[in-house]
Parts: sequence; structure tokens; C-alpha cells
Amino acid sequence: MKILHSSGNYQIHFLPFTGSHDVVVTDENVAGYYPDLLGENPIVVPAGEKSKNLETYAFVSQELLKRGVTRKSRIIALGGGVIGDLTGFVAATYMRGISFVQVPTTLLAQVDSSVGGKVGIDLPEGKNLIGAFHPPTEVFIDSRFLATLPAREYRCGMAEVIKYGWIMDEALLSELQEPPTDLSSIVQRCIKHKAMVVQEDEFETLGIRASLNFGHTVGHAIEQITHYERYTHGEAIAIGMVLEAKIAERLGIAPLGLSNQMTWLFEQYGLPTQYDSTTYSQDLIEIMRRDKKSEASEITMSLVTVPGSCKLVKDVPHNVIAEVLGE
Ligand code: NAD
Ligand code: GLY
Repeated sequence: MKILHSSGNYQIHFLPFTGSHDVVVTDENVAGYYPDLLGENPIVVPAGEKSKNLETYAFVSQELLKRGVTRKSRIIALGGGVIGDLTGFVAATYMRGISFVQVPTTLLAQVDSSVGGKVGIDLPEGKNLIGAFHPPTEVFIDSRFLATLPAREYRCGMAEVIKYGWIMDEALLSELQEPPTDLSSIVQRCIKHKAMVVQEDEFETLGIRASLNFGHTVGHAIEQITHYERYTHGEAIAIGMVLEAKIAERLGIAPLGLSNQMTWLFEQYGLPTQYDSTTYSQDLIEIMRRDKKSEASEITMSLVTVPGSCKLVKDVPHNVIAEVLGE
């Protein structure tokens, strides 16, 4: 599959990645499972969201210098969404930009983060607040990586898969009522959706790409306020989708009962649907006001209107968000 973007195109290969002479950036878990794919002198960082920070960004950049990586080199992001976002952002800025290849090893990264060129890191003040659009030069999707994925990480990937159903593919929701028997075809279908969206609205200026953020305004705030320790990204956005569906119901944008339908489906995949914490909703709202979709502190959300369809809603009233979060 070929993805077109403003400065060229890249191929998504549904093929095994067999290794490379280029420098590989990966995390400790992936390095342990796939030592044969690491090349000669890989850069290995701790696993998890906490590596998407300024310190690790500087570390990886300096390690590239030590390895003599030049402007003509390319580097390999071998790992989940954290490695893809971090390595992609290093690639976007190292010597003003070098090539990188995405080799996504989680379900979440295969269906979402490895395609579309969004790369970045977190700040203490919020998630993905520093970043760039820097498309990869190639993506290798290999379902064999999923064999070693812990069950919890598989479930998180399913949260993003199910998201495509709610925002743009009602038929997928019906199929997912039963556990999928052919995961590869589901992955390809999700990538096709993502490809279509990012080609139509590469830089998220038309409100089309923002639809992919359904569940993320609330989800990112939950991830941040719980210090990225309590929930994985997929779990936080599953909760975020249910809460945003409740907000849409309250606003009269979605039919009553939508959030119950979502809760049921996420529970079939072992995903959390409730934010069980005593955090003040006002603190979460403060974080949402810093979300990249927000303008002048007004909170913007991509909200599902009916299963398979969504729209961008600006200036979501804070009192409605607070009511839903406070329940
Ligand atoms: P992750 O990269 O932290 O991977 C999850 C866990 O799985 C880690 O512990 C990792 O070591 C382990 N792992 C990875 N591959 C494995 C394998 N094959 N076998 C065994 N263990 C493996 O997290 P993720 O869920 O892949 O990605 C979440 C990140 O992606 C978040 O930071 C999120 O913001 C980002 N994201 C980015 C985009 C985008 O468009 N750029 C889209 C969605 C999500
Ligand atoms: N995952 C959101 C995006 O790529 O725009």
C-alpha cells in the first residue's frame, strides 16, 4: 500500500522485517524478544511512555552522533508507539531531519501510530506537546510480532481498532461483537482507514484527521493525571471514548444509549470503561484545555454522532464535561 504525503510517498509492506545495517532504536522488552533484528549497535531505551521525554530524546540523538549517523543515514524504529513516536521525532530533528523506517511491534502501533507521520514526545505539562509531522520512508507490518505481545497490550491495540468502528466503520463494530478470527485482515482494514484519513488531511487542518482523536481528549488527560502508570494508552482512550460518548449524549449530539453500547463492546475485550479515581474533574479539564485541538482554552472534541460516524465539536461546555467526569 502506498501513502502519499506533501513531500513524497512511502510504502507500507505487509512483510517481515528481516533486519538492517542501519541503526535500530528499540526498547528493552523488544530487544529481549527480537535480538536477531537489532543489527550491530542498537540504541535501547527503557520500555514505556516514560521514555517519550526530553531526556531520552537527547540520549538517543547523542547516541546517533556517537555511532557516526549522518544526514544521509536512516534509522529504524523497532517497537510500539512509544518507540515510533520517539525515534520519529529524533529523526525529524537530528541534523535537521533524517529518514526513518517504522517497524511497529504492537497491535496499536500497527493499526495507528506507525502510519501518518505524527511523531513526538511528552512534556511534564502534557502528552505529545512537542512533535512534528515527519513521515517514515517505509513501514513493515509483520503480524508475527503480535505472538509475543502481552495480553494487556493486545487489548490496548483493540481499543484503537474498535475506535475505527465507532468513528468510521459501523460494519467493523458488528464483526467485533465476536473475537476476530482473522486479525491480519482487521489490521489491514484499519491501516486503510488511517491511510485514507491522513492522505485527506495530513496536517490535521481540515477537521478530518482530528476525528482519529475520538476518546483522546479525555484519555490523554487521564493518562497524564495518573502519571502514565495506572493505565496504558489504549486503556485510557477506551475510558475516554465512553466518557466522550456520555458527553455527546448530554449535548444531544448522540443518541442516548451510545455510551452503554460502547461500554459493552470494550468490556468484551477486557478494557476498562470507568475512570475510578478521586481526581477532581477540574484538574482534568485544566489538562484538556492544553490539548492541541483546543483553541483559546476552549475544549474541542471529536465526538461520535451515531455508530460509524463522528464530528469535531468546538467549545464543549466545561460544565457538561465536569458533570460526566464527576459521576
Ligand atoms: P509501547 O510502545 O509502550 O508498547 C507497549 C508495551 O509493549 C511496551 O512495554 C513494549 O516494550 C511492549 N512490546 C512492544 N512490542 C512487543 C512485542 N512484539 N512483544 C512483546 N512486547 C512488546 O506502547 P503502544 O501501546 O504501542 O503505543 C502507545 C504510544 O503510541 C503512546 O505514546 C501514544 O501516544 C502513541 N500513539 C501515537 C500515534 C501517532 O499517530 N503517532 C497514534 C496512536 C498512539
Ligand atoms: N493517532 C492520531 C493521528 O494520527 O492523527
